[in-house]
Amino acid sequence: MTAKPSANKLWGGRFQQRTDRRVEIFTASIPYDWRLYRHDIAGSIAHCRMLGQCRIISAKDADSIVAGLEEIRDEMDREIREGRFVPDPSLEDIHTTIEQRLLEKIGPAAGKLHTARSRNDQIALDLRLYLRDEIDQIVSLLRGFQKALVGRARETSDAVMPGYTHLQRAQPVVVAHHFLAYYDMAERDRRRLKDCRTRVNVLPLGAGALAGSSFPLDREMVARSLGFEAVSSNSLDSVSDRDFVVEFLSAAATIMVHLSRLGEELVLWSSSEFGFVELPESFCTGSSIMPQKRNPDVPELVRGKAGRVFGALMALLTILKGLPLSYNRDLQEDKEPLFEAVDTVKGCLEIMTPAVAGLRIDAARLLQAARQGFLTATEVADYLVRKGLPFREAHQIVGKAVAEAARRNVELGALGLATLRSFSPAFEEDVLAVLEVHNSVASKNLPGGTAPARVRERIAQIEEEWRREED
Ligand code: ARG
Repeated sequence: MTAKPSANKLWGGRFQQRTDRRVEIFTASIPYDWRLYRHDIAGSIAHCRMLGQCRIISAKDADSIVAGLEEIRDEMDREIREGRFVPDPSLEDIHTTIEQRLLEKIGPAAGKLHTARSRNDQIALDLRLYLRDEIDQIVSLLRGFQKALVGRARETSDAVMPGYTHLQRAQPVVVAHHFLAYYDMAERDRRRLKDCRTRVNVLPLGAGALAGSSFPLDREMVARSLGFEAVSSNSLDSVSDRDFVVEFLSAAATIMVHLSRLGEELVLWSSSEFGFVELPESFCTGSSIMPQKRNPDVPELVRGKAGRVFGALMALLTILKGLPLSYNRDLQEDKEPLFEAVDTVKGCLEIMTPAVAGLRIDAARLLQAARQGFLTATEVADYLVRKGLPFREAHQIVGKAVAEAARRNVELGALGLATLRSFSPAFEEDVLAVLEVHNSVASKNLPGGTAPARVRERIAQIEEEWRREED
């Protein structure tokens, strides 16, 4: 007997002709979806145990399928680790690849695994299992990144630097406050991911191709064994929904926005124009032509890689927007952008964490910068308000004093009390303390303000939250 033209296809039955090789290559997802092998196998094992339990297949077949799948998982672990795994496009996707191996291992019983299942609900399952794992990893990478930020904040709650608006020196802040701003961003990022996880963590299996299954499946059992919090409530939606990918990518894009902003600041701050920080030498690269160069390639690349993740989000939205229900092959295009986004976010967090931890902070230079450029002018206006002047008038007076100081090329304090009094008799000896940057930051003592005492309180609060999370 000659082999059927599509003998190793899961759907060869109704076909007379062999699939065109070009079509095989064009439609194959195995070159990238092999990554899902562990999740595919875990899903198959749970499905198979349930089929056995519900007496849809025999206990004997179920046992032999599970044993075969476990062997395949260990085999593939080894092949991938040793770089020996070669995807075969005639085996289309990860589901076919594994089923083919199972057939070679245990014979015809392998054909019972796909009872009451379609690749449509199977791939939805794989993707959810995969993404759930990756979310957990990214959440913990974010925590590591936050620890690095808080570590730096602990050392810098008294160090004063210029705070900026419009990239112009605005008011003094403490350096720790700046690090903790990124902490809060990362905290929202973590919570977004955790929230997204609840919608990822729903079992689609049992939806079949689109309409559900006529077999008496125990979906709750499968959900429990795979750690899902719920089973999906509509089979059409289950095979066509990729909202959870969009949500993840949107959260991932936001993480990249934050990392990219920090990257931008590290690039600026490590320039000789700023000279606020130095990246560890092991995190810099040189120039092939300019011997003096010490380039911040790491934060630059983080900034540059953000585009990949935004692109992935745009790709998913575009793939989904015109799709009629339910499954369409277009959905296969969800994987590469998702994988790339996951790899990018993880890679960037993994490199930014040690970059932040290893940063050399030039506190003297930061302080010097905070003392130049009239950063306490607002303080002086507030001082006049406390002496009874309307804020608008105070603003005018200090503006004039600043203009005079700028003309003389000195800071406000150097004008001296007599000159200040020529702008307003309300100025007294005590204005000089108001001009001091440490007094300025200490006075920002509301919740959320940059006063060192507040910042230390915030650090203590964060540490307390971490302790509570641990137990
Ligand atoms: N490789 C496919 C995907 O990623 C798996 C599902 C295939 N289903 C199908 N009916 N061809 O979406």
